Amino acid sequence: MILEFMRDDHRACDHLLAEAENALADKKTNEAKELFESFYQATNHHFDMEEKELFLTFEKKTGMMGGPTQMMRYEHQQLRSLLESMRLALSENRNDDFFGIGESMMIMLQQHNMKEEQMLYPMIDRALESTAEVMIQTLKDMSR
Ligand SMILES: [Fe+2]
Ligand SMILES: [Fe+2]
Repeated sequence: MILEFMRDDHRACDHLLAEAENALADKKTNEAKELFESFYQATNHHFDMEEKELFLTFEKKTGMMGGPTQMMRYEHQQLRSLLESMRLALSENRNDDFFGIGESMMIMLQQHNMKEEQMLYPMIDRALESTAEVMIQTLKDMSR
């Protein structure tokens, strides 16, 4: 199931950010920077999997171009920009900014992920039917 695969990936990303924030709160700056970088790469990769494969295939299959996938793409743009701001703040050791932007980013990301898990992924699973497993393999094969 697409839902299961993508939901697991949401959780893996969340976990990396929590670890990065914990490390930074413990003043383990280098570890925090490495963990944040993993989170940053994993989250951008997740958005790429959706935009370049999953949403595109769903749109082709259903003809739904201006619906939920368009809204999710727009939210990705906003999230990507917040991720850039977090990364810059961390690289300049502006930790308060990092945590502040991180809080806004996380609220937006949680709402975004919830919409995908509750609405969009189930729609995609129904649209893809038996080809869902092939799609999951394609997503796994995408290079980071
Ligand atoms: Fe998304
Ligand atoms: Fe997602």
